[in-house]
Amino acid sequence: MCIRDSPETRDLIISSLRAEAIEKVGSHYAGLFMDDPDKAELREAYGIPANSIKDNDRMDKMNAFFFWATWATITERPGKDITYTNNWPPDKLGGNEPTGSFLLWTGFSVIILLAGIGLLAWYYAANKEEETVEDSPDVNPLSGLKLTPSMKATLKYFWVVTALILVQILMGVITAHYSVEGLGFYGLPLADILPYSISRTWHLQLAIFWIATSWLATGLFIAPAISGKEPKFQRAGVNFLFIALLIIVVGSLAGQWMGVMQKLGLVENFWFGHQGYEYVDLGRFWQIFLFIGLFLWLFLMGRALWPAIKARSENRHLLIMFLIASIAIAAFYGAGLMWGRQTHLAIAEYWRWWVVHLWVEGFFEVFATVVIAFLFVRMQLVRASIATASVLFATIVFLSGGILGTFHHLYFTGTPMAVLALGATFSALEVAPLVFMGFEAYHNLRLSRAKEWVKAYRWPIYFFVAVAFWNLVGAGIFGFLINPPIALYYMQGLNTTPVHGHTALFGVYGMLGIGLMLFVLRDMDLNAVWKNRPVKIAFWSLNIGLLLMVLISVLPVGLAQTVASVKHGLWYARSAEFLETPTLQTLRWLRVIGDTIFTVGSIYLAWFVFGLKWGWSIKKEA
Ligand code: HEM
Ligand SMILES: [Fe+2]
Repeated sequence: MCIRDSPETRDLIISSLRAEAIEKVGSHYAGLFMDDPDKAELREAYGIPANSIKDNDRMDKMNAFFFWATWATITERPGKDITYTNNWPPDKLGGNEPTGSFLLWTGFSVIILLAGIGLLAWYYAANKEEETVEDSPDVNPLSGLKLTPSMKATLKYFWVVTALILVQILMGVITAHYSVEGLGFYGLPLADILPYSISRTWHLQLAIFWIATSWLATGLFIAPAISGKEPKFQRAGVNFLFIALLIIVVGSLAGQWMGVMQKLGLVENFWFGHQGYEYVDLGRFWQIFLFIGLFLWLFLMGRALWPAIKARSENRHLLIMFLIASIAIAAFYGAGLMWGRQTHLAIAEYWRWWVVHLWVEGFFEVFATVVIAFLFVRMQLVRASIATASVLFATIVFLSGGILGTFHHLYFTGTPMAVLALGATFSALEVAPLVFMGFEAYHNLRLSRAKEWVKAYRWPIYFFVAVAFWNLVGAGIFGFLINPPIALYYMQGLNTTPVHGHTALFGVYGMLGIGLMLFVLRDMDLNAVWKNRPVKIAFWSLNIGLLLMVLISVLPVGLAQTVASVKHGLWYARSAEFLETPTLQTLRWLRVIGDTIFTVGSIYLAWFVFGLKWGWSIKKEA
């Protein structure tokens, strides 16, 4: 080994030949990220504007990082024959090949998945209790619902949700477009002011923001509706939280722009700019602000719910579950504050996944289950006792796989092999309940047809059916596609990740956000008769668009990349050389079809939501 660690000085000692190589690689990257005209074509292919790095000092630091990161991937751990990154990324020339353990734990995880499915099938067969209420009411039990001032005050949250959806999708379109046009948007030199790193960051951040806003608003709306009590100053609290959220959204996005454009020093960048950790990119100040905001939300919701919890109604247990899921969502965001500016990458990644994974594969799943169950119980379509039992069961199943399942993000981050083994095993268990989402979808579809009056809720309920569908396809199937160690070893960082990311994050939680929004909007004016056409078009376009985007473009690109990664190494699968081959170019262009249908869906949705306010989505009384 030419590179070693000197235990006395803790310096890395590098042979002169290697030093020369590092120097060469460094000057390649300096040319690429700064303004070497010879690298213009490559910059275009990667979507990196000239002078992305604006001074030599920062370039040196970045090169030092590249060196260190590469070093960690090829250097064997003391006394072991695997590298710090568990031999990832695959690259035969660099000596990185998968170890036998990857195959072993891949096989084991598949067996565990089958066992999990078997167990659940048995459980469902044995508990075929009919969840639907036979004597569901003939008129909507909510028809007497009185809107309190704070409930009305949540309406503006949904306008913001709708506006953010549009901006988020626009950012996605721009980001996807950069992958084929490099630095422009149909000829406009857009990358000068909105480079890929920003459009992509905003695309992800906005997704989290609008999904969260919709859920928060739903919580604020239903809490006083359930208890029938409007605590003092509740409306003021709801309005205050709204302003705080707006400041966080605008402030953090602006900070990220300033960070990427290097208008901030490195310390300010950590606090107000762009941390660079996907999904928790926002500066530390904004993170803390959001954390406080989430607790304010809990407080507002808790105080409105409290009378209902105290009243010991039959809904009580479901309400407590709802509150616990909400507390967990707020509290686990706190894990995002566990790293500092200089924390080791492996440690920061560990905590980052506490937030991202434990949210989406843990408490969000619980929240989704309990909130949907609760809405049906309120409509008296499902019995409270049965809903409570099934929510409890779902919680146990989700969390028993989901918690240790976090380790599937840590296979290659310097962890011992046991972490890979545990991660592969427990995350396979997560897929078992998702395989049964067909039950959920069918059940919800049946509820939407239970009684004549339920038809008014058809489209909100259809979005819940979509939640179940994408839980199966996006989280279950496409999650498991990349999940076994040997799969992720070759696929990490390829288009297979956005296949899963889009179908799971938008498919499950985005659809839930839209469904909840429509539910609340429905309850806000039960006398209005909706013109359903735009919302119907929105529903089908969003779902079909998402499916096509993935099936005819992103997935085939990801699979072609996987083959390239197995054959030649990960570097080749991600290289401009490979991605610009004619087949890959065509496949990438095909995205336009799905993306366009999807975008049309979002425009119809916005048109519909704003039409509820201005009247064009409501049928005039005959
Ligand atoms: C609705 C539930 C889920 C959502 C919303 C979701 C979302 C996501 C997102 C957005 C990422 C990308 C993170 C990043 O690159 O920083 C991701 C990564 C990943 N997800 Fe999920 N996920 C869900 C469920 C699952 C399930 C059930 C599995 C499999 C058991 C799974 C396995 C993975 C794996 C292995 C990665 C890492 C991919 C990589 O590093 O290349 N996910 N997930
Ligand atoms: Fe995960």
